Formats: sequence, structure tokens, C-alpha cells
Amino acid sequence: CRDRVVAPSLLAADFTQVGEEVARAVRSGADWMHLDIMDGHFVDNISFGPAMVQTVDALDDVFLDVHLMISRPDHYLDRFIEAGADMVTVHVEADHDVAETLVRIRAAGRHAGLALNPATPFEAVEPFLEQIDLLLCMTVVPGFGGQSFMAEVLPKIQAAAAARHDRGLGFHIEVDGGIVAETAGRCARAGANVMVAGSSTFRAPDMAAAIEDIRRA
Ligand code: DX5
Ligand code: ZN
Repeated sequence: CRDRVVAPSLLAADFTQVGEEVARAVRSGADWMHLDIMDGHFVDNISFGPAMVQTVDALDDVFLDVHLMISRPDHYLDRFIEAGADMVTVHVEADHDVAETLVRIRAAGRHAGLALNPATPFEAVEPFLEQIDLLLCMTVVPGFGGQSFMAEVLPKIQAAAAARHDRGLGFHIEVDGGIVAETAGRCARAGANVMVAGSSTFRAPDMAAAIEDIRRA
């Protein structure tokens, strides 16, 4: 059984003190830091780019889980790898040769993740399962923090876990969007083990307790 991983999303942090926010997350038990990259094109919002990844990489040796919500991940990939991403997750819906991008991530010695939006069927990622270290099942329409969890994604998580078992594979299953202890528990029972949480961790009165609740849910 895979270990539960909690990955606070920096998007919900106080950007006036990024260094202290990363330190607070790590102190509070964060296993990974989740960095949301938005290009204003693939999603209707702009966040931050490779410079922020490099900044966080220099602050702490915590594992950096970089989620590329960008239209041309192939074009920007090398910059995120150079910035220090440990995991690079690209969307199956983006405009690129998915298989080739995944090969490039692994060839650079990084972990390869593949994400799919709530409306995208599991079949869209099936051809790539041998090539990934993580499958990210979005549990909101990506673009903004603080949205409500979409329970209709749970059967897709179950399908992913079943396919993983049938094919003897070992990729992580990550969920992202609207994750609090209660929704984390439902996702875990469906087969997910990596929990991304922005608002419910960084904005909690007690971040360590919030992370622990998500881990145990
Ligand atoms: C959604 C991002 C998420 C987001 C999660 O577009 O990919 O990582 O920051 O935020 P919460 O946990 O607040 O829903
Ligand atoms: Zn994300």
C-alpha cells in the first residue's frame, strides 16, 4: 500500500512572505510542495513561473511537485526542470505530444505526472500509464484555489486504481481541488494517495493539525 502524501499548494500561501510560508508548511508536516503554474491560456488565471520554482527550490530541499496548467508544456519543460522541479505534471488536454513530453521528463531524471480535468474521461490517459509516476485526477476545474470538490470524479479514481492493479503498475494517484479531511478520505477510499490542499492547509488556524487530519482521513 502506498504512503499517504500531503502536498500543500503554494497558491494559497501569503506571497508577501513566501520563504516563511514554505518553512511553515514543511514544519507543519508537508511531504511535498505543490506549485501551480497557470499561463492565462490553458486556464483562466496567471500564477507564477520558473522563477518561483527556483526560489522555493533554494529555500528548502522539500520535494517540488510542479503542476503545469499551460498550453505548451513541451515548450517550457526544460525551464521548469532547470528550476528544480522533482515531479513535473502535464495535462493530457494540452497542445503537445504527450508521450514525447513524458519521455523527456523521465530522461531528465525527474518524476513524470499526467493530469486530467474533471470532464476528461479516464480513457484519454490509458495509453500513457506505463510512462507515468503519478496520475493527477483534478477534482475541480483548474484555474483557481478555493473551489468545491467535485464528487463525480470519484469513479474515475476507482477506474485508475483498478487499471493500475490490472496492469501491475505503481503510479501514485493524486487529487487536487477542494481537498479537506472529509473529501481526502473519500478520495483515499477510491484509491488516491497524494492529496493536494491549498486553502484547507495554508488558511487553516493550525496548519499542522490540518495536514495531519488530511493524512489520516
Ligand atoms: C487548481 C489548482 C489547485 C489549487 C487547489 O487550479 O491546481 O492546486 O491550488 O486549491 P484548493 O485546495 O484551495 O482547492
Ligand atoms: Zn494543482
